[in-house]
Amino acid sequence: MTSLADSDELIFFVNGRKVIEKNADPEVNLLFYVRTVSRLTGTKYGCGGGGCGACTVMLSRYNPKTKKIHHYPVTACLVPICSLHGAAVTTVEGVGSIKTRIHPVQERLAKCHGTQCGFCSPGMVMSIYTLLRNHPEPTPEQITEALGGNLCRCTGYRPIVESVKTFCVDSNVCQLKGSGKCCMDQEERSFVNRQEKMCTKLYNEDEFQPLDPSQEPIFPPELIRMAEDPHKRRLVFRGERTIWYAPVTLNDLLELKANFPKAPIIMGNTAVGPSIKFTDEFHPVFISPLGLPELHFVTTVDDEVTIGAGYSLAELNDVLQFVVSEQPKEKTKTYSALLKHLRTLAGAQIRNMATLGGHVVSRPYFSDLNPILAAGNATINLISKEGERQIPLNGPFLERSPEANLKSEEVVLSVSIPYSTKWHFVSGLRLAQRQENAFAIVNAGMSVKFEEGTNTIKDLQMFYGSLGPTVVSASQTCRRLIGRRWDDQMLSEACQLVLGELHIPPDAERGMVEFRRTLIISLLFKFYLKVRRGLNKLDPQKFPNIPEEFMSALEEFPIETPQGIQMFQCVDPNQPPQDPVGHPVMHQSALKHATGEAVFGDDMPPLDQELFLAVVTSTKAHAHIISIDTSEALAVPGVVDVITAEDVPGENNHQGEIFYAQDKVICVGQIVCTVAADTYAHAKEGAKKVKIAYEDIEPRIITIEQALEHNSFLSSEKKIEQGNVESAFKYVDQIIEGEVHVEGQEHFYMETQTILAIPQEEDKEMVLHLATQFPTHVQEYVSAALSVPRSRIACHMKRAGGAFGGKVTKPALLGAISAVAAHKTGRPIRFVLERDNDMLITAGRHPLLGKYKIGFMNNGVIKAADVEYYVNGGCTPDESDMVMEFILLKSENAYYIPNFRCRGRPCKTNLPSNTAFRGFGFPQAAVVPEVYISAVAAHCNLLPEEVKEINMYKRINKTAYKQTFNPEPLRRCWKACLEKSSFYARKQAAEEFNKKNYWKKRGLAVVPMKFTIGIPIAYYNQAAALVHIYLDGSVLLTHGGCELGQGLHTKMIQVASRELNIPQSYIHLSETSTITVPNAVFTAGSMGTDINGKAVQNACQILMARLQPVIRKNPKGKWEEWIAKAFAESINLSATGYFKGYQTHMDWEKEEGDAFPYFVYGAGCSEVEVDCLTGAHKLLRTDIFMDAAFSINPALDIGQVEGAFIQGMGFYTIEELKYSPEGVLYSRGPDDYKIPTVTEIPEEFYVTLVHSRNPIAIYSSKGLGEAGMFMGSSVLLAIYDAVAAARRERGLSKTFTMSSPATPEWIRMTCVDQFTSMIPKDDPSTFTPWNIRVS
Ligand SMILES: Cc1cc2nc3c(=O)[nH]c(=O)nc-3n(C[C@H](O)[C@H](O)[C@H](O)COP(=O)(O)OP(=O)(O)OC[C@H]3O[C@@H](n4cnc5c(N)ncnc54)[C@H](O)[C@@H]3O)c2cc1C
Ligand code: FES
Ligand code: FES
Repeated sequence: MTSLADSDELIFFVNGRKVIEKNADPEVNLLFYVRTVSRLTGTKYGCGGGGCGACTVMLSRYNPKTKKIHHYPVTACLVPICSLHGAAVTTVEGVGSIKTRIHPVQERLAKCHGTQCGFCSPGMVMSIYTLLRNHPEPTPEQITEALGGNLCRCTGYRPIVESVKTFCVDSNVCQLKGSGKCCMDQEERSFVNRQEKMCTKLYNEDEFQPLDPSQEPIFPPELIRMAEDPHKRRLVFRGERTIWYAPVTLNDLLELKANFPKAPIIMGNTAVGPSIKFTDEFHPVFISPLGLPELHFVTTVDDEVTIGAGYSLAELNDVLQFVVSEQPKEKTKTYSALLKHLRTLAGAQIRNMATLGGHVVSRPYFSDLNPILAAGNATINLISKEGERQIPLNGPFLERSPEANLKSEEVVLSVSIPYSTKWHFVSGLRLAQRQENAFAIVNAGMSVKFEEGTNTIKDLQMFYGSLGPTVVSASQTCRRLIGRRWDDQMLSEACQLVLGELHIPPDAERGMVEFRRTLIISLLFKFYLKVRRGLNKLDPQKFPNIPEEFMSALEEFPIETPQGIQMFQCVDPNQPPQDPVGHPVMHQSALKHATGEAVFGDDMPPLDQELFLAVVTSTKAHAHIISIDTSEALAVPGVVDVITAEDVPGENNHQGEIFYAQDKVICVGQIVCTVAADTYAHAKEGAKKVKIAYEDIEPRIITIEQALEHNSFLSSEKKIEQGNVESAFKYVDQIIEGEVHVEGQEHFYMETQTILAIPQEEDKEMVLHLATQFPTHVQEYVSAALSVPRSRIACHMKRAGGAFGGKVTKPALLGAISAVAAHKTGRPIRFVLERDNDMLITAGRHPLLGKYKIGFMNNGVIKAADVEYYVNGGCTPDESDMVMEFILLKSENAYYIPNFRCRGRPCKTNLPSNTAFRGFGFPQAAVVPEVYISAVAAHCNLLPEEVKEINMYKRINKTAYKQTFNPEPLRRCWKACLEKSSFYARKQAAEEFNKKNYWKKRGLAVVPMKFTIGIPIAYYNQAAALVHIYLDGSVLLTHGGCELGQGLHTKMIQVASRELNIPQSYIHLSETSTITVPNAVFTAGSMGTDINGKAVQNACQILMARLQPVIRKNPKGKWEEWIAKAFAESINLSATGYFKGYQTHMDWEKEEGDAFPYFVYGAGCSEVEVDCLTGAHKLLRTDIFMDAAFSINPALDIGQVEGAFIQGMGFYTIEELKYSPEGVLYSRGPDDYKIPTVTEIPEEFYVTLVHSRNPIAIYSSKGLGEAGMFMGSSVLLAIYDAVAAARRERGLSKTFTMSSPATPEWIRMTCVDQFTSMIPKDDPSTFTPWNIRVS
């Protein structure tokens, strides 16, 4: 025990303000604290598990030993406030504010268009700010490293990276500096029309304030004094249910550990935190020796380096870097292997929090470091009151054998990592769904020691992670191989042995069984090659090198900082300078996004008497509800009520959408009841206590195949047909048939669904604040649920933190759920879905099955296509029928097939109901023609691009549903894309590369696109706006569209500014609401600007017409004077603008119509490199040519194209939703659903907005919200191309089953080779797999 008395005072600083908390609650994390106690709502909740970076803040601590202040980023959701003693926390509010001074980081993020919805922006700002505090002139590598832990779903990262690059030493130069090309070389890329000047500058660097590090807030001197104080006192904090001890000496720690042997030691809390949150672990006592000097040391003796267990992984990285730079290469092989894995392990925040000791002890099965530490013969040094001991990491410790465990009172003091030697090789190998910040699918640490001067194995160690619940050792294999030579024969025996030893059962958790088995030996092969090359370097005479074409198998894909050029049409020099239309105007809220001052739903201050809602969802896919027992839930302190179907005063089933499950459940994730309580923690606790008894109902339908078997559909079949398909099949040269499976996608908007429902005192009025794309729909559903006229339901929508279609229909359902709770309790309800529930309940993009039969001539001309489409609609109608209609209308994409028939039906299954998602069926459906064209090309020995060109629409024509259109811009985009991407030359180069590289292959693909905007139902294209002019001349603009991050409000201000001929600063746009604009249609279908723009224009023109007499009388007058005069003359200064809408229609009986107002064309080219041994891929370059007609705001439009492209690329490659055979969604957070991060984006990224004419739309613009999504399929097709190259070389059949997403698993297993043939295969009839495909 320490001699000084314990202290219960927690002292830390938040943004320079001292906080003293007496008896802080150990269960409270920093995110909750800053948001609710400090009321600093800039820091956002995105996942709660350290995986998204939305909650990033900077911690600063003073180190009394080094006398230095250390700044590092952390994810506040995993930081217990009790761990903050002596720390200074900086949140986004502490960096800068629009009320005082914005910081250069915030300014540049905003002005470089690095924010769209702005929900990720505060986290981004904090990661960048912390980087600059440590490195005011960062290198490009440091930038990518710093941003790897921050997800953004909107921007596609390019503008974010660019904003940080402006701080690099050489920022003021072309982005392609060093690449041999230059953006000044515009002529070359300006293909559109030599007269039309193209611009590349989306922002003006001259406006940027300089970064002046001396202006940053100083570290609180009091904290320095506290850190220097030699008389530290043990801290003890007693919370509601738990106690926190922070010892100040090692002895104290050991004493505490002896007294509380079961208490976890909290270091980074990155393992304990998530298990408390997600697996309901409970610990009454925590011991936190964070910062204890005895755990922070490095010693180097002759043959090893010993590193204190308290070192964070980031500090470990620095130590290892230092050692590697100081010591000869042969001694540091283990350290280099660790460094390689440390670079991609989690994001920067987690690496700064997680500690070496915590990592080693928590022994996650996916551990990236433990297998290497084991293979490198590292030992852990333990200490307890009983004394010290060492345990080797390569023993049974990692396999968690009980006898090899730490004793409960033991603490890891340090880890000793020996030097490697000359004839000793150590490597780390891994494969994950995403290059960075993703748990490994399989990883390994391997080492081999040879008899001096020979290739005879003296010692061999192989450790694998992610094969089962622990890291495992292939010890028997290794033993058997001792004494063998390191040659091909040994390798083949090693593969057989290791496959025999390391068994992954066919029904293993996490699935991918055959893939993981293949990886076991593929990684071994990589190690084998690596060692052979190493031996060759040691003695080239004795040990031949590996074949030249195998060399690239050893190279990791580099993590590059992306670069590229964005091109758009310059504004006409004769346009008045005040007119903002056509300029790359910054998003209206960008600065507020970057400072955290933009208010999102859950940022609204607490309301008097408000209650929090937690959901209880069905655990069964199809079952009767036998009983719901709420008694225990109601007994939880703070719980006020449990709300069920019986409490719905009006309709509980509105248009087939069920609010609270009644009598039966129809999917896992259906809301059965909600619990309202005074805090969210209490509501959640109550929700856990609700007991529901079920009785299964047959059948349970999960997949499209099962739905087809049971004839289970949501609506009847629809069809589009032209020509005579049957007779065409009779004369074609060849016919092929096939199937394409396209899996679904999660929206993963960064802001989860959030609703505030506030019952009013009078007349049954209800006010809702929520993030939605369709306030009218919410109003309708709430009105139905409460049985109250719509006029009494007011829905307010300020902004959404991303939506992508996921906030079209679902907020109505959740709004009704909350309104019923508010009605029943009579109190305001705050309903914020946690990420896992959001993913579970709200579903996403429809998985699709396409079946095709194609008739074609030997020259590649397709004469007939007969295609059937099925989508997995889930359990209720939602918009599945409309999605299917869109699929049928759009599925021909850019291709003219004279005899064409497509039919489709949405399937009804027991999955959560799928819904709208950017592109609305097109991104899935348009893959099908790409796949059959690739198959046709393979049969005709042509390139897919040649077959595409042959079959592409070439002149004014009619679609299959007989709508006339002119594909001229399509041809231009296609031609430009082929030319400017140097497609054929690069294709040739890729083929050369492929000849020289057996295990790495490059592929290229170009996709053309004919996309449509709008809806084939005229009344869905109408819009209204309301414009008020006040007497000071300021204007309040309102319209029916919703701001989702796409910049709709910004564009509407640009429109109003042009029409009223006043500066944008005069115009204010506050929110969208059902009170100001009634009956507005959804903001979706890329129509927001089109229809609302026309309505705003109309309102402004009405006002200008009214003002004309006044203006005529005083033409030189000022705006304010005219307004004052108009008022004096009793001229109405408020106007409603209206746009009747595009007169679209579709007659499904006749299978014809003018279904869409116009078409958006585009073409995209991507080049990838795949690693045939692991299935990883790298996107090398993408060129996009998008027909924007006239861009009202090129910055926003390019933002939409790039963001949609990256979202599409994720959809087609790495985003994978996993379901159990029982219909349970496993993928419920960033840990197991991987959206692209900054490392996925193309190394080179060129986007050009192509000019065309579109007189039908406002200012001849085009809606670009969705079109970029399909451009992502160029990556999918480039991967197919690379895989096809591998297969050709291996003599495999030219055609193969293509599906989406092309995950590492798909790539690896399609690149069939000796390793895939070696693995054991299971008889599917003998087991139930862990997961199934639902498309
Ligand atoms: C979002 C996210 C992404 C991640 N990605 C990866 C990844 O890609 N690859 C990977 O390998 N890992 C990854 N991890 C896991 C991460 O490496 C571990 O969680 C981390 O190393 C644990 O360290 P910690 O200090 O946070 O441990 P804590 O959570 O503080 O403690 C973990 C356990 O270790 C015990 N412990 C801690 N220190 C000691 C000690 N000195 N002596 C005795 N017992 C001790 C505690 O009692 C506790 O049981 C990720 C984690 C998160 C949250
Ligand atoms: S909310 Fe903290 S990382 Fe996602
Ligand atoms: S701007 Fe990054 S998530 Fe929306």
